[in-house]
Amino acid sequence: MSNDRVVDLLKQAYNDEIETVMNYQTLSIVLDGIHAEEIKESLKADVQEELGHAEQLGQRLKQLDARPPGSEAFVARQATLQPPEDTTDVAAVIDGVLDAEDDAIETYRELVDAAAEANDPVSEDLAVTLLADEEAHRTEFRGFKKEYRDD
Ligand SMILES: [Fe+2]
Repeated sequence: MSNDRVVDLLKQAYNDEIETVMNYQTLSIVLDGIHAEEIKESLKADVQEELGHAEQLGQRLKQLDARPPGSEAFVARQATLQPPEDTTDVAAVIDGVLDAEDDAIETYRELVDAAAEANDPVSEDLAVTLLADEEAHRTEFRGFKKEYRDD
């Protein structure tokens, strides 16, 4: 039984959660306008939740005799989640958040399968829990997107 794939996915998920924390934090500060207020509040709350995800992933890595990466191993992947030039462009931010959530959902689905294959029910259970959180975030932002569809 090899846990290499599980460890790699846990590290990737940790990396992505930390990047999400940075981008949501930045976006919750830089956006402007009355349309942005609800998005900013939601992102601010999600920062804490995503940080909690990173904490759980890091602890699981430690339990598997691995470790979460530091900043020199960090790889930025969220090109569509960068702060927009036009700070009132809430629609672009919503699309970026949906990309990030889709990406996280894909990673957690892979982790669920890899952990099941490696007979690692604890990592599998964690992946299922985090997957549920990301699906809830995606649903919330799909709701926000409906408001901007015809703008
Ligand atoms: Fe997350």
